[in-house]
Amino acid sequence: MRSMELVVEGECYISGRFERACIGIDGGRISAIARNLEGDRRIDFGSRKILPAAIDSHVHFREPGMTHKEDFGTGSLAALHGGVSCVLDMPNTVPPTTTMSALDEKTEAAASKSLVDFGLFAAVRPGVDIAGLAPRVAGFKLYMAGTTGDLLVPSLSSVERELAEVARSGKVLAVHAEDESLRRKDLASNLSDHLRNRGNDCEASAIRKVARAGEACRLHICHVSSKDSLSLALGQPNMTAEVTPHHILLDRDRPLGTYGKVNPPLRTRADRQALFLAFKQGRFDTMASDHAPHTVDEKKEDFDFAPSGMPGVETMFPIMLQHARDRHLALATVVRALCERPGEIFGIKKGRIDIGYDADLIVVDFMDGRDVRADDLYSKCGWTAFEGMPAVFPRAVMVRGELVMKDEEQAGEFRGRDVVTNGR
Ligand code: DOR
Ligand code: ZN
Ligand code: ZN
Repeated sequence: MRSMELVVEGECYISGRFERACIGIDGGRISAIARNLEGDRRIDFGSRKILPAAIDSHVHFREPGMTHKEDFGTGSLAALHGGVSCVLDMPNTVPPTTTMSALDEKTEAAASKSLVDFGLFAAVRPGVDIAGLAPRVAGFKLYMAGTTGDLLVPSLSSVERELAEVARSGKVLAVHAEDESLRRKDLASNLSDHLRNRGNDCEASAIRKVARAGEACRLHICHVSSKDSLSLALGQPNMTAEVTPHHILLDRDRPLGTYGKVNPPLRTRADRQALFLAFKQGRFDTMASDHAPHTVDEKKEDFDFAPSGMPGVETMFPIMLQHARDRHLALATVVRALCERPGEIFGIKKGRIDIGYDADLIVVDFMDGRDVRADDLYSKCGWTAFEGMPAVFPRAVMVRGELVMKDEEQAGEFRGRDVVTNGR
């Protein structure tokens, strides 16, 4: 029998169920799966479960320009401890990712600090060189409403040419779908006011508009948050849809104050329940965290001034694994939305335990749960809106066959790679 460079053994999640198996790994990729395999090195995880690591296709790691909130080192460390082996970073940094030099700067920061693999988004704005950027980005992002950063594109007619180029590039157009023209700017002092300013109609209208103007693009609607958007965003041709943990688990009635202030907003209980059900039924393509850290000091500002966004890259998969453990969600649904579909949509060979895929694996013990505590988390921001929620954190994480984290200890020398350019 041929000897693999590395063999990992345990209860492996393969084709929708757990089976005792060996995963053979060569050059960081899965090269064989069998009951027994020979390896130059061997790691036996015993009765622990081995699952694919998650791809979080929507994070804001804040580098460059806002590294007091997060940077690629801390953000990726948080990702790692949350079982995420690959992140796609959003372009609303300082400078924004809209030029080749900004992309260079961000790529360099990520390549030198990231402990997980990564891909970068560039933003669509009038005049952006879409064709030039396309080969180097995981996708393009369109902001239809004002939020953190100043990438707002208020009228889609101003980016007609750019959208045509995105379509031609074949890259995904990820959309922050809130209609700026329907957004109210009334003084907000709590989550209900914030919701009133960014109502369900605001999201629905933006989805309708981009479905028309971006018809030729591979549209991906980020963070669908309202029950009225479900029929517009789910099951549409040329359109995929993402949901976040906060929109299915939290609503405006939680006493979170500014810590619950996000865009799109936390909505009513009815919205949350409708989103949870749609997710449970497997109608969403992906779940992503929209990890958008701000510091505690920033969140301590008056409600109206406090920035929108909450961290989540570290808690998403662990909380969803707990939901699977408790049978509130099927594990297959969780793995599909967090691992498999993001890989398919963004063309990343990760997210499955299968031959030819990167050996990005997590090891979990479903009997070993622990509640989410801000003090235990690795994000620089130091807080979480999911405090106290039960979760199953991974005991070990592998990225391309390297054991990057085990029992809370991380291997310091590992560096993540750009999944679009492969570091070239
Ligand atoms: O709440 C949000 N925060 N929504 C966004 O669209 C941006 C994000 C951020 O970057 O802080
Ligand atoms: Zn957004
Ligand atoms: Zn975002």
